[in-house]
Amino acid sequence: MPRAVLCRALGPPEGLSLEELPPAPLGPGEARVRLAACGVNFPDTLIIRGLYQHRPELPFIPGVESAGTITELAPDVGSWRVGDRVITRQRTGGYAEEIVLPAKALVALPAGFGFAEGASFLVASLTAYHALVQRASLAAGETLLVHGAAGGVGLAAVELGKLLGARILATASSAAKLAVARQRGADELIDYTKEDFVEAVRSRTGGAGADVIFDPVGGEVLAQSLRAVAWGGRILIVGFAGGAIPELAANRILLRSCSVIGVRAGEAARKEPERARAAMTALMALAEAGHLRPHIAATLPLARFAEAMRLLMERQAIGRVVLLPGG
Ligand SMILES: NC(=O)c1ccc[n+]([C@@H]2O[C@H](COP(=O)([O-])OP(=O)(O)OC[C@H]3O[C@@H](n4cnc5c(N)ncnc54)[C@H](OP(=O)(O)O)[C@@H]3O)[C@@H](O)[C@H]2O)c1
Repeated sequence: MPRAVLCRALGPPEGLSLEELPPAPLGPGEARVRLAACGVNFPDTLIIRGLYQHRPELPFIPGVESAGTITELAPDVGSWRVGDRVITRQRTGGYAEEIVLPAKALVALPAGFGFAEGASFLVASLTAYHALVQRASLAAGETLLVHGAAGGVGLAAVELGKLLGARILATASSAAKLAVARQRGADELIDYTKEDFVEAVRSRTGGAGADVIFDPVGGEVLAQSLRAVAWGGRILIVGFAGGAIPELAANRILLRSCSVIGVRAGEAARKEPERARAAMTALMALAEAGHLRPHIAATLPLARFAEAMRLLMERQAIGRVVLLPGG
């Protein structure tokens, strides 16, 4: 019987269990996929503790993106073949050896991508695309400050921002993290645990500040970003990986005539499917052309799910961490 990681009670990753489950029945329009890789995302570490906006009923299997091979198709599915290599996206169910889901939710694995890359590509890149292109209209020649630039979403924003022609300022908490951000296109590196990033941004932009700020970290990093944004700039609120949700100084927003913009890529895709399709088409073309590729920090067997989640919770991951159900 296929195994999956089950969350039976809300709490830390160590409270989850790897269990055998009877194979799910295949309904009309559905596909069964044998998973080879499951991407670990920060929201996985929140959803198991009841700290995420989406709260599924217990028990549930965490994991919003995976990749593998189609092993079975409902008779009414004509668009795929058994043996096709695909990326799966779902609200829950990814940390498993197999998954059953609507065939229309599958995405072909881009040429040149392994399963680990496929399982860690779409959440980060769709978030970065939605934020930078669809919410902030980032233009070539603008300055983009990316916080937490070596995290999964942060690194995607660095790569995509560079492709869009921006000058990238990257913050992160170590030299090793900043080195990866540099490899992926960052022009200026700022260790915000060692220097005041506001001063660093000002000095590297001739005092002007950054045109666009991409912030998946929150807390003081977000609060202080109001002092690092340019006149008429845009601050993208992407997440609160640092844990704290700050109050923002409305006077600074007024004084800089800047915009503070909320980003919810998943919900936007449900509310505005046309725009989501446009984003997907653009990203798949960039991936196929070899312009975008996730950086995999670590791969671990599925049984080490708690360790994998801890890498993110303890700020150790550089790029993406991936679970391998095959061992
Ligand atoms: N809005 C959306 O549509 C959307 C979609 C996906 C994800 N998100 C959010 O985006 C954020 C990043 O997700 P991710 O999967 O990219 O996570 P990740 O890979 O773990 O990256 C998060 C980064 O945040 C920084 N950080 C600062 N303080 C931290 C702390 N106390 N604990 C952990 N990390 C800390 C770390 O960089 P340094 O060590 O360099 O500071 C880390 O690299 C999360 O808040 C997630 O919920 C939002």
